[in-house]
Amino acid sequence: MNKEQILNAFHFRHACKEFDPEKKISREDFDYILETGRLSPSSFGFEPWKFVVVQQPLLREKLLPVTWGAQKQIPTSSYFVIILARTKKDLVADADHIRNIMENIQQLPEEVVKRKGEIYHRFLETDFKILDNERVMFEWACRQTYIALGNMMTAAALIGIDSCPIEGFDKDQAESILRDEGLLEGDRFGISCMVAFGYRVKEPRDKTRQRIEQVVEWVQ
Ligand SMILES: Cc1cc2nc3c(=O)[nH]c(=O)nc-3n(C[C@H](O)[C@H](O)[C@H](O)COP(=O)(O)O)c2cc1C
Repeated sequence: MNKEQILNAFHFRHACKEFDPEKKISREDFDYILETGRLSPSSFGFEPWKFVVVQQPLLREKLLPVTWGAQKQIPTSSYFVIILARTKKDLVADADHIRNIMENIQQLPEEVVKRKGEIYHRFLETDFKILDNERVMFEWACRQTYIALGNMMTAAALIGIDSCPIEGFDKDQAESILRDEGLLEGDRFGISCMVAFGYRVKEPRDKTRQRIEQVVEWVQ
């Protein structure tokens, strides 16, 4: 794949408002999109996310009234993903999740687990100063989920699949719906954002962006 093809994919990608309900993304293509989310980078490699794929029509129906930014995307998308981010409970240095990643996923030796845990704690407490604020801790995890979000949308565009990122929802109400379904695992997760995938029904408006000189400042 050359640079022109990659840039073409960036032009192809747009926030698709409505998908063709008759044209479904294959499971193989969607697994490829999810894989690019899974492979995304995260701070310290702690992967503070979960991707909930909402295919059940009843749950989509429940989400519709609290998701003003996805009124057409929820009913028409082939796959509708709610990206969850971990909350402070799961992000403090001595949380089970952090220990599990270091020991069982990264397979670090015990002394490295200890040292990395100390550095991580200092990072939260002193460097970033986020440890005393639950919301900021959660938002820090959310920031990382947006890398996965971007990667999945780009990966989709590269194979001709449309998407729409979604922040147009009432967080409390949407989380309450997921909580009732047992999807927030005792408030260890909150909703970061959502993203819909499918095939467009109509061509988008021309892309509008600031010029490159307006967004890039060179210091040399
Ligand atoms: C974090 C984020 C949240 C967004 N939320 C919504 C949304 O709820 N509904 C929607 O239709 N578009 C949403 N958008 C799409 C933006 O409006 C869109 O990306 C922007 O206008 C640029 O247009 P383009 O993506 O088509 O190039 C969101 C985009 C981002 C990055």
